[in-house]
Amino acid sequence: MINHLLHINHVCKQFGGNNAISNVSFSVDKNQIFGLIGPNGAGKTTLFNCITGFYHVTSGDIIFNNKKINNLRPDEVCHLGMARTWQRVKPLGSLTVLENVMIGGFSITNDTKEAQKIAMEQLQLVGLTDYASKTAGSLSIGLKKKLELARVLATRPKMLLLDEICGGLNKTETDTILAIIRDIRMKGATIVFIEHDMKAVTSLCDWIVVLNSGEKLAEGTPEEITRNPDVIAAYLGGVQNA
Ligand SMILES: Nc1ncnc2c1ncn2[C@@H]1O[C@H](COP(=O)(O)OP(=O)(O)OP(=O)(O)O)[C@@H](O)[C@H]1O
Ligand SMILES: [Mg+2]
Repeated sequence: MINHLLHINHVCKQFGGNNAISNVSFSVDKNQIFGLIGPNGAGKTTLFNCITGFYHVTSGDIIFNNKKINNLRPDEVCHLGMARTWQRVKPLGSLTVLENVMIGGFSITNDTKEAQKIAMEQLQLVGLTDYASKTAGSLSIGLKKKLELARVLATRPKMLLLDEICGGLNKTETDTILAIIRDIRMKGATIVFIEHDMKAVTSLCDWIVVLNSGEKLAEGTPEEITRNPDVIAAYLGGVQNA
């Protein structure tokens, strides 16, 4: 039996005359950690926005858990078991850390006590228990990224789409987030991970797709991708020299 959870089939997304995504196809297996990489403006976030219902594709299909989700709203996609983090984290700054995560919990229960219990479990998982009653706006960027992860985990997703969750973090903070992601996978989730930090990508991902100017440039294992001359020319040469 083929174990795919997400299919991207010939997806195109245009903004006016700009082809942000051009005929991109790939599949994500259940329980995989899947990397989506490429230069700035390659279309990575746009593809996440299409998958999660914030944008609708111009053509092509997106199939999640055997269901076509092209025309669903973000809340409908979330209810099917898909959650995403934002490249620019934006917690509700005047609410507490716990309340922010409870908002995620309310997507699966109407019961306040239950939402609180779910939220506390996620805060423990990401190591934010001590910050539960602090206002979210007072957290450092590293802690805000952990809060973002806890918020999406509280929706109990089958699949998590993480958009540069390590962006702006130092090495210790990045390593902590990577350990949490491995732990989430061990618990059965599937993860799609956008990241520019190639050490993080190669250490974490089972499979990688490279986007460049809206097109799929390559896909393969981390070893195959880091050796691929087209990928080095279009992206990795610049990243490694940065
Ligand atoms: N709402 C929009 N309206 C018009 N153009 C858009 C919109 N959203 C994205 N684009 C365009 O789509 C292209 C891809 O942008 P996108 O943000 O998806 O890139 P990215 O790969 O996530 O880049 P980065 O690594 O910098 O985050 C860019 O040319 C961008 O200007
Ligand atoms: Mg982006």
